[in-house]
Amino acid sequence: MFKGKARAYTNIALIKYWGKKNESLILPMNNSLSLTLDAFYTETEVSFSEAYTEDQFYLDNQLQDEKATKKISTFLDIVREKAGTTKKAKVISQNFVPTAAGLASSASGLAALAGACNEALKLGLDDQALSRLARRGSGSACRSIFGGFVEWEKGHDDQSSYAHPISSDGFEDHLAMVFLLLNEQKKDVSSRDGMRRTVETSSFYQGWLDSVEADLYQLKQAIKTKNFQLLGETMEQNGLKMHGTTLAARPPFTYWSPDSLKAMQAVRDLRNQGIPCYFTMDAGPNVKVLVQKDHLDKVKTTFSDLFSSQQVISAFAGPGMTIIE
Ligand code: ADP
Ligand code: DP6
Repeated sequence: MFKGKARAYTNIALIKYWGKKNESLILPMNNSLSLTLDAFYTETEVSFSEAYTEDQFYLDNQLQDEKATKKISTFLDIVREKAGTTKKAKVISQNFVPTAAGLASSASGLAALAGACNEALKLGLDDQALSRLARRGSGSACRSIFGGFVEWEKGHDDQSSYAHPISSDGFEDHLAMVFLLLNEQKKDVSSRDGMRRTVETSSFYQGWLDSVEADLYQLKQAIKTKNFQLLGETMEQNGLKMHGTTLAARPPFTYWSPDSLKAMQAVRDLRNQGIPCYFTMDAGPNVKVLVQKDHLDKVKTTFSDLFSSQQVISAFAGPGMTIIE
């Protein structure tokens, strides 16, 4: 039996990955930059054996259907090719994060799976190679191999597209991200389908692409100079632009709910009261609020009053993928 187990944390993009230029290799249209966080994670165990006649995928103790298993099998095929084996696998995964709710379960899930496969089959992949492998499962997963601030270089082929940590002199240790769990249900439009539809049909997509390089530059400057206001403003603007593209897609769609708008307004109100904090959202209605640790309590109380304290989860900078047990 070839067995491995890994844990990986979710990451939230401050500069978003939104759109692929190569669907099968998962090469993105633009570089993205994220912060790995410590509140939500996935633990995945994989075993490969001659005794298995087909791949099996258990998520949160439930055997998954054919469609979900097919996605995992496609990823396992890439791993099997690297290892020169035809052995089928059993994948047992536990999400300590709501699945498919815009809270980045695909990032922690596929990063954990990549790490577990590397361990199980003794592939000997270094972090850069692991990042490339995780990318083949889900783009954002390539960033969850690393902790702290991470940039995904879009590259131009399989070899050149991977993530790496960004040096920050401990800036991330002063930050917190407050997750507002407004709706933990599986979303209607997955990130994968949403970005594809936007690239193919949205007349705003080119505007996104034209401005993302400048946002990335500004965000990296903010990290380098530890400028929280610049970091927050750039993140918030970049997220809004990404979500803007979905409104001009055919058919149009949005990940925002009435509660998302309520949360965004509350962030603006906090800023007007002199509390620096900024929001971002991914492919789902849940809002994430970036704040310096000094102001965390005020932000938490505000949102616990507006929603409920169970809907407010604080996260801090988290580590990269690790092998466990
Ligand atoms: P999210 O916002 O949660 O990342 P996505 O729609 O981007 O939502 O991705 C959800 C998909 O990620 C799931 O449908 C599944 O294919 C995959 N996924 C989530 N968790 C895991 C896991 N633990 N192991 C393998 N794949 C997972
Ligand atoms: C909005 O990485 O889930 O969260 O590569 O198709 O699996 P696939 O998509 P995924 O998309 C994440 C999109 C995002 C922005 C981001 O995390 O950068």
